[in-house]
Amino acid sequence: MRPTAELSREHQAILKMIGILGAMAGRLEAGAAVAPDDLERAVDFIRVFADKCHHAKEEDLLFPAMEKAGIPRERGPIGVMLADHVAGRARVAAMAEAIPAIRAGVPEAAASFAAAARGYGELLTGHIFKEDRVLYPMADARLTAEQQKTLEAGFAEVERTIVGQGRHEEYHRLLERLEKSYLG
Ligand SMILES: [Fe+2]
Ligand SMILES: [Fe+2]
Repeated sequence: MRPTAELSREHQAILKMIGILGAMAGRLEAGAAVAPDDLERAVDFIRVFADKCHHAKEEDLLFPAMEKAGIPRERGPIGVMLADHVAGRARVAAMAEAIPAIRAGVPEAAASFAAAARGYGELLTGHIFKEDRVLYPMADARLTAEQQKTLEAGFAEVERTIVGQGRHEEYHRLLERLEKSYLG
C-alpha cells in the first residue's frame, strides 16, 4: 500500500477513537459513570496505536524523507505537524492522570478527563485534516517510487517492532467493542 494511504487509513481508526472519547466525555460531563477500565483502554489505544505507531511512522520515517526531498521542517508544514504531536501528548497525559483520580472518586476528575479528551479530539481532528489534505499529497508528489518503497518497508518494521504481531488487530477489535458500547 502507498505509505500515505496506510497513514490515512490509520487516521480513520484514530478518528473513530476520538468519537468514542467524545461520547465518554459527554457521559462524564452529564455526571454519568464511565468504566475506568474503558477510559484506560481508550488512552492506551491513543498512546500505542496513534502515538507510538502512527506518529513514529511520521516522525521517524515520512517527515525525514520529505525533508530530504526538499520540504523544510522549520516554518513549514512539517514543523506545524510536529508541534501538534507535542501538544497532543500533553492532552493524553492529562487524560491518563485523571483516571486514578476518577477511580478514587475525586469529584473534579471526571471533568478534567472530559476536558482533556475534548481538547485532544479537536486538536487531532484538525491535525488529521491538514495531513490528509495538504501534507500527504505533498509527499505523494515529491517522493520517488524508490523512496516510497523504502518507506513502506520502514512502516512494516514499525508494526513488527513497536506494535507487535497481532496487536494491531487487537486494537481494531477494541475499537469495535467500544464503538458498540458508547456509540451504539
Ligand atoms: Fe501527525
Ligand atoms: Fe497522522
